[in-house]
Amino acid sequence: MTSLFEPYDLAGLRLSNRILMAPMTRARAMNDTPDELTALYYSQRAGAGLIVSEGAPISVEGRGYLFNPGLHTREQAEGWRKVTDAVHAAGGRIFAQLWHVGRVSHTSLQKDGAAPASSTSARAENSNAYTYDANGNPANVPASTPRALETAEVARVTQDFVRGARMAIDAGFDGVELHGANGYLFDQFINGAVNDRTDKYGGSIGNRLRFLLETLDAVSDAVGGNRVGVRISPFGRLYDMRPFDDEAETWLQLAEELNFRKLAYVHLSDQLTMGLPGSPEGFAASFCSGFRGTLIAAGGFDREKGEKAIAEGHLSLIAIGKDFISNPDLIERMKNGWPLAEPDRATFYGQWGEKGYTDYPTYQPGNFAQRS
Ligand SMILES: Cc1cc2nc3c(=O)[nH]c(=O)nc-3n(C[C@H](O)[C@H](O)[C@H](O)COP(=O)(O)O)c2cc1C
Repeated sequence: MTSLFEPYDLAGLRLSNRILMAPMTRARAMNDTPDELTALYYSQRAGAGLIVSEGAPISVEGRGYLFNPGLHTREQAEGWRKVTDAVHAAGGRIFAQLWHVGRVSHTSLQKDGAAPASSTSARAENSNAYTYDANGNPANVPASTPRALETAEVARVTQDFVRGARMAIDAGFDGVELHGANGYLFDQFINGAVNDRTDKYGGSIGNRLRFLLETLDAVSDAVGGNRVGVRISPFGRLYDMRPFDDEAETWLQLAEELNFRKLAYVHLSDQLTMGLPGSPEGFAASFCSGFRGTLIAAGGFDREKGEKAIAEGHLSLIAIGKDFISNPDLIERMKNGWPLAEPDRATFYGQWGEKGYTDYPTYQPGNFAQRS
């Protein structure tokens, strides 16, 4: 039986094991720029087979939250170089997650107070951006009403992704992951209940998938498809993503479209552990009958569930989020059956500095603040 702890050949990149650190926004970057603390945080977790960075906005337009390290200025690229060097020096591998939040943003985060860009001009209900409140304090505030991108502008957003991908590779990342999940811009195009367009990016399944596929193709042309992964969240309900007609068909058609493209991987983000419904039972199995490349999934994995998923043969790799926050040496702990430390949710996001970020210790026998 294949073990989670065996190496894996990811389109020519050797991973030391089959466990990814899932992308996790931590909102600690002053001026949206990574620094030495960011480098320390990621290098502490370099035992992961592959780290996928927190979502990195590819433009000012793509921002929806304060303090997220971006990939659209020279200073940010220089900051990321510190991160990639530190991870590589510690023997790890790292991809950058390229992000555009679409309508999950606020006018105060946009250039000249503009409306956020989306597939639609309808606001995301019950959805917050993270910006300064009226008193100048960072706070969650309701997302602003967006404007629908003009047809010709969609190609410009694609080019913003291409620029972000090139910048990531120049900054030393081993590859990039397009963030097509969790209710952000690509999802706003794919979801038939949100996308109300009448142009070539709306209506039929093929039209709703067009923006993601055009961007994957353009980014692959720029940096090589073997360095490009994509994250999606079929049946995701975050940020006002609603059920829509032909929902299963949409995701299964995407599986087939992705199968033609020689990408590094497809990464399914299941929202079950976020308190949402998650994808239907057996979905990964039907997805992988259309997509036969490297398939990864995230959402509630531990060693036992991970071993089982790999043994069933639908997944090549698993990704773990929260446990990587509180266990920098997660791989060693999983391998040795050592207890895991609980993450402190209060310090997941925001300007806490080292607290809840780089101060989680590696496993020490006799430390009682652990989960058994
Ligand atoms: C603090 C935090 C930040 C996250 N940020 C991102 C992100 O930037 N991009 C993304 O695709 N998913 C993000 N996620 C989702 C995780 O990648 C992962 O899919 C989720 O936590 C489920 O995995 P888990 O049950 O192992 O934690 C985030 C999750 C957490 C807890």
